[in-house]
Amino acid sequence: MCGIFGYLGTKNTATSMILDGLKALEYRGYDSWGVAIKKEDGTLFVQKHIGKIGNARIPSFHSHIGIGHTRWATHGGVTEANAHPHIDCTGKVAIVHNGIVENFEGLKLDLQNKGHRFSSETDSEVIVHLIEEIQKTQSDLTIVMQKLRSKISGMNALIAFFPEDESFYIIKNGSPIVVGSVDDDYFIASDASAILPYTNNVYFLEDNEMLHISQSGISLFDNLGAKKIAKFTKLSYSAKSAEKGEYKHYMIKEILEQPKVLKNIIDTQTHEIEIAADLIKHAYGTYLIGCGTASYACLAGTYLFSKIAKRHINFAIGSEFSYLIDFLKENSLVFALSQSGETIDTIASVKKAIKRKSKLLSLTNSEGSTLYRMSDTNLLLHAGTEKAVASTKAYTAQIVYLYLIAHQLADSLDDGKKHVTQAIHTIKNLIEQKSKIELLAKEIAKHKSIFILGRGVSYAAALESALKIKEVSYIHAEGFAAGELKHGVIALIEKETPVILFNPEDETYEDTLSAAHEVKARGAHVIGVSSKNDKVYDTFIEVKNCADATIIPNVVIAQLLGYYLALAKNLDPDMPRNLAKSVTVK
Ligand code: F6R
Repeated sequence: MCGIFGYLGTKNTATSMILDGLKALEYRGYDSWGVAIKKEDGTLFVQKHIGKIGNARIPSFHSHIGIGHTRWATHGGVTEANAHPHIDCTGKVAIVHNGIVENFEGLKLDLQNKGHRFSSETDSEVIVHLIEEIQKTQSDLTIVMQKLRSKISGMNALIAFFPEDESFYIIKNGSPIVVGSVDDDYFIASDASAILPYTNNVYFLEDNEMLHISQSGISLFDNLGAKKIAKFTKLSYSAKSAEKGEYKHYMIKEILEQPKVLKNIIDTQTHEIEIAADLIKHAYGTYLIGCGTASYACLAGTYLFSKIAKRHINFAIGSEFSYLIDFLKENSLVFALSQSGETIDTIASVKKAIKRKSKLLSLTNSEGSTLYRMSDTNLLLHAGTEKAVASTKAYTAQIVYLYLIAHQLADSLDDGKKHVTQAIHTIKNLIEQKSKIELLAKEIAKHKSIFILGRGVSYAAALESALKIKEVSYIHAEGFAAGELKHGVIALIEKETPVILFNPEDETYEDTLSAAHEVKARGAHVIGVSSKNDKVYDTFIEVKNCADATIIPNVVIAQLLGYYLALAKNLDPDMPRNLAKSVTVK
């Protein structure tokens, strides 16, 4: 949450690089944005705006150093004053911050009593006044920043910019931050994707580290202030996959990329799938965890492991797992799923599991991310950068991974690959006929609620589908286990209420069909998603049977429906209100 970008180097194009960096990071927060850039005449140019950065311009001037920020509000509403960067009373320090300063209230009161003038309601602003206050008795900036570190609590990542000194101090504890270096140019960002247009040579700061950057180079300090070596690594992915290209939105681009992403897993990840299966086989219990969409992939995983591999794999929501870990043992395996690898709720739970010495296996889409780095074994989805806030290709890639691991455990990997190949063909057919889903979206966009029903793994698909629809179209969508209908849910059904039914021809078929009749009898508009049509369906979407991999095309239908519902309602599917792509605060 919140995007931070900084540039310090030899080029005089800092303004455009910072703006481009913020645009690349906008998916992390888009309430407001701002920059602080040193002009050649020595003055500091500061500009802040409410809203998305979109095609914003800033006056063009030569500069070789500056910082920028795109915000997802935590403390303090969406106002220009609350936008970052924040500047101290003297105008000599500027900061951009991601995270929460948990003890800001006490610090603020104290600083106000000492005469500091605050211009925002944010927790972040205390940082800059605190730096100013410490500087009154200490001129060595490294010591100033070390003192600052010891005074603020919470999960934070920040850049402190000293324009006179032409240097940055970067602090990290919890929230992610990465530095890219090429020749004498340095780029700092919340996410490597914003740095990749310039270099793939990066260093991911670890918790409690502090990095100083100036024209004379970089110095890294540990939590006690001792110098250490920053070991840069070369990332293997490029900036190209993060471009929108000819597409109107990232969401549709990423939906349409799925056949290629899923095929890549079949073709290249066999060794990794074998490794994961082996870890599960030898673990004393495996616990799948993730948040949001990743949690629904985990839930689907429990069904797939049970049915295909005859194994009970536990599942918990990432933010809840912390309260469920007292039974973890040294030989327990925590299998964490996260597109970004930065979701704080998942990471916080994982840290507790590591304290209990459990092993960590992760499946992320972000090489070098926090979760990737802290894992004993890290697997990558290789799905290419996912920019739209609503996760699509990462979800289906997670399902394919879990599906193939389950088949590997059952010694039937070839069958698993065959089903996924069928699922890919089915997705391609659906994509060719996407105009039908667009028409359906226009028809049902006026409704306040949509319900989605399924049993077994289709129940997990129903939950994910509902999330996709509600987050981008703001229509109340609920996924339910079809069998639960009679236990209360059916009270919600009114005349014409759209009810989507995932009804693959598996062991759930007949019972799910009964649910269709039950909602139809109460006036619902029944949308059947199945390989077999039935007269109970008012609308039928054909999805060929691909064994248990049918969950994949089924969810793609909901992704397309969510996308077209957003368009029908004139909404921006890439940046839904109140959300940010990467949830790095609690
Ligand atoms: C929904 C969505 C979120 C994320 C969740 C976890 O479309 O994208 O629910 O799935 O915030 O994110 P990651 O997978 O990055 O841990």
